[in-house]
Amino acid sequence: MITLRSVLYILAFALFIYGLMGLTGPRTAVRGNAIAAAGMAVAVVATLLTPGLGNWGLIVLGLVLGTVIGVPAARRVKMTAMPQMVALFNGVGGGAVALTAWVEFRETTGFQGEPAFVPISTLFAAIVGSISFWGSLVAFGKLQEIVPGRPITVGRLQMPLNVLLLAGAIACAVAIGLGGTAELLVVAVLVLAGLAGIAVVLPIGGADMPVVVSLLNAFTGLSAAAAGLALGNTAMIVAGMLVGASGSILTDQMAKAMNRSIPSIVAGGFGGGAAEAPAATDGTVRSVSAADVAIQLVYAGQVIVVPGYGMAVAQAQHAVQDMAKLLADKGVSVDYAIHPVAGRMPGHMNVLLAEADVPYEQLKEMDEINDEFARADVALVIGANDVTNPAARTDPNSPIYGMPILNVDQAKAIVVLKRSMRAGFAGVDNPLYTDPKTTMLFGDAKASVREVVEELKAL
Ligand code: TAP
Repeated sequence: MITLRSVLYILAFALFIYGLMGLTGPRTAVRGNAIAAAGMAVAVVATLLTPGLGNWGLIVLGLVLGTVIGVPAARRVKMTAMPQMVALFNGVGGGAVALTAWVEFRETTGFQGEPAFVPISTLFAAIVGSISFWGSLVAFGKLQEIVPGRPITVGRLQMPLNVLLLAGAIACAVAIGLGGTAELLVVAVLVLAGLAGIAVVLPIGGADMPVVVSLLNAFTGLSAAAAGLALGNTAMIVAGMLVGASGSILTDQMAKAMNRSIPSIVAGGFGGGAAEAPAATDGTVRSVSAADVAIQLVYAGQVIVVPGYGMAVAQAQHAVQDMAKLLADKGVSVDYAIHPVAGRMPGHMNVLLAEADVPYEQLKEMDEINDEFARADVALVIGANDVTNPAARTDPNSPIYGMPILNVDQAKAIVVLKRSMRAGFAGVDNPLYTDPKTTMLFGDAKASVREVVEELKAL
């Protein structure tokens, strides 16, 4: 029978899918997000219409607590802290699934009399949800620098330890499946899977953390879909599969853009966080003033701006847009080269530049703009480092060898805006800075761009 609840669920799914479609382009992303959020609100209402739902006091308390904690946190978070925020929110989803699995175990007294798919999918959800919760907490800790970003491992025993913890969780789950009803068994499943999540993520370096967050996000989706199967809740199945599928695609794309395989990322050991890895460049570095940069830009026919994480930290996007407008008024053609993993999250640069009203037509993806660099008079690198590192193309010994990069070194002149000679996220030297064509304008990106703007106005 078609109930109001099932109609609302179908409406929610349609909104999820329509919202996801909006996220494929910067022009429609904000609307897509709002549509998917509306879909989730409809799904929550539909779930609250479930017959026999009790304990309204607790439900309202949960809704109030979630809103009071979630809304201000999401509103206040800085764009640069978004990956850890996503890790936390995603982890909480996995934790909720793991707790739901525990409740299901209790309500059915160890799945007594339930068809086989119920314990199988519930215990799968318990294991994957718990891995995702604890793994995401470690990822959050690393990104927030509460936990050291460098790989933390017990050496050669790491892999056997990971396998042992996971095998232990699975063994307890099998014991439940074979009729074990002791609550200690389900607690052991959750604890061992949680320890496995921690043990897998701790040895992964900070540089790979955003990919791990995306992978754990996909895991959370899968665990939610499995729990939905056990509970007969279609909303959880559909939403879980959408998260699982889109999270898997995103993880794959991020890994490709960094030229890493997902197994090599999970095996850990790469990257230790930018703060701990100062670069030691041998060649000569040429420092220039904002006035020199302004003159160089104004006499250029074509300028390609290469934004990176430093532009996000400095919140320089509005100043950059002011500079680009001034240059355009003086007849200089300005484009922006967007590397797929510039910044710290997918679409990071697009979001920031869209916020500063940079026309979308000027944002050029890596494949579209890479051949243009050879024709550009100036490549203006603003707080980008790894995504411009020619060693990725030329030095087989570089840890980032093989990562597709922006061909900044092929421009006729290169100007780099950053604060020091420190390395980027991957913690490796950048020979671009000692290239004879390169000049450096040292300082905070926003302050430097503002100075260039003032100089341009005076020209
Ligand atoms: P990075 O290589 O991290 O370099 C950023 C540079 O910005 C740093 O060298 C830093 O140098 C400079 N900087 C920091 N604050 C600044 C400020 N206030 N003003 C001016 N400069 C500042 O950034 P990128 O080129 O955007 O590359 C992104 C990195 O993140 C890649 O390694 C990528 O693999 C990794 N990553 C990205 C993603 C996604 S999805 N975006 C996911 C995983 C990993 P100073 O300290 O000298 O100023």
